[in-house]
Amino acid sequence: MPGTQHVPRARAPRPEPPRVVPETGSLDEVRDASHHCQACPLWAHATQTVFGEGPASARIMLVGEQPGDQEDLQGHPFVGPAGRLLDRALGDAGIERGQVYVTNAVKHFKWEPRGKRRLHKTPAQREIEACSYWLEQELAREKPSVVVAMGTTALKALLDTSHVTLKDTLGRPIRHGGRWIVTIYHPSYALRVPDEAARHEAFKVMVDGMKLARELLNRPPEEPPA
Ligand code: URA
Repeated sequence: MPGTQHVPRARAPRPEPPRVVPETGSLDEVRDASHHCQACPLWAHATQTVFGEGPASARIMLVGEQPGDQEDLQGHPFVGPAGRLLDRALGDAGIERGQVYVTNAVKHFKWEPRGKRRLHKTPAQREIEACSYWLEQELAREKPSVVVAMGTTALKALLDTSHVTLKDTLGRPIRHGGRWIVTIYHPSYALRVPDEAARHEAFKVMVDGMKLARELLNRPPEEPPA
């Protein structure tokens, strides 16, 4: 068209996480800063940032995907149906919820409307990357010996997953960055498997993974494989 010119669209810049907290800042300062995060568009439709929770220097950190509907409203991770299953799995593995640090790869609820309901949507890689700053800060301050990745999104947030899948790593802990990573199914997956036997099996994988996480506390990741 005369008078117009084609200007190629610039590639969207990768969202820069706000590097607002100095290295010496406490986890509480990081948590406060996370409440102002707009590094990806998810903040606009979420009620609030849902940051991780647990005792200082917990030896086990659990990483989920993103807050769900209940978590978004209440502001705490894993307080809805998936959280209740998670608590059962922890209990069966002999771990108290109050002993572990529980967080998510993505700190805002991603959803789409379906009638009056808000339906969960899986976060995109760019949203996982935008949020990785917060997970890194949590890892740097809690310094857990074992991190349990619950589901594929958590695994992607913790590792370059071009060579591994969740299935490859179930029951096979990974040494990474001076700590262990154990993978389990995400509790929401274990809740929604339609077949009862498969649901039972998925829950068992969760419990076995938690037991493995507990055992690994006594095995430094630097030790050569047994
Ligand atoms: N699912 C998650 O991944 N995290 C939560 O906090 C709740 C449900």
